[in-house]
Amino acid sequence: MSLPNVAVEHTAPVRIAQRRTYLMCRPEHFTVSYTINPWMEPANPTDTSLALRQWQTLYDTYLELGHEVHLIDPVEGLPDMVYTANGGFLIDGTAYGPKFRYQERAAEAGPFMEWFAAHGYDVVEPVEVNEGEGDFLLVGDTILAGTGFRSTGDSHREVAEVFGREVVSLQLVDPRFYHLDTAIAVLDPVEGDGGVERANIAYLPHAFDERSQEILAARYPDAILVSDDDGAVFGLNSASDGRNVIISPRATGFEAQLRERGYHPVLIDLSELLLGGGGIKCCTLELRGRR
Ligand code: ARG
Repeated sequence: MSLPNVAVEHTAPVRIAQRRTYLMCRPEHFTVSYTINPWMEPANPTDTSLALRQWQTLYDTYLELGHEVHLIDPVEGLPDMVYTANGGFLIDGTAYGPKFRYQERAAEAGPFMEWFAAHGYDVVEPVEVNEGEGDFLLVGDTILAGTGFRSTGDSHREVAEVFGREVVSLQLVDPRFYHLDTAIAVLDPVEGDGGVERANIAYLPHAFDERSQEILAARYPDAILVSDDDGAVFGLNSASDGRNVIISPRATGFEAQLRERGYHPVLIDLSELLLGGGGIKCCTLELRGRR
């Protein structure tokens, strides 16, 4: 007896969106008046109203996708406050505060920590230099931690003490990708049920030293490896809810890779905010409540 000739189709896994709670900051005072990363060029004019319109589209998109977005008041003279990802790292109702590498951003720490305290978080004042979710990413129960340009290796030890979780240190080597969230996107942070491994990431291998590349390859064999072209347009600086992945429209290769894996890319252009060296993820801080 011969079996019917049925074409075997490779179907991408079904992705499930989880509701997120984010903190954002309207770029009312956005400009580029100093240089603390290779993208910032104060001589190039910035258009604050365009930055506001682009930011608004991101904000509206989060709401349309069913997420909850809180706002922190922008402070005049702190143009980088729009990049709320650097304002802290929050897990299980605890907010580990930021301690910025450069004086230009130091004054942002106060307003962020006050906001967290006013919203019921236990705030941990940091001793070590760290730039919040810019360099700390939660994947399953593990914290991936970046160093090399901003957050120090000592902050990796500190964040491990604060949250009592495994911390994996990764070394960034390319100054264009100075925060971990410019080189890794967490696509799905949920550790699968019943032995099904779901947690997954996308990353730009060349942004890391060899040892870190080996660690990433061993831990995430199913990761999406992004091309240099897509990395260079901040394609990885994206926000995922497990299904919808908000990315730059310029990251066309990454867009195709996401579709192949069953994710739903949503394209949002933050070109104006890229003049400050930030993108979608930089403008988004995840507020993880108590368990
Ligand atoms: N101008 C800001 C800085 O250099 C951009 C921060 C981008 N934030 C991020 N999470 N990658 O600090």
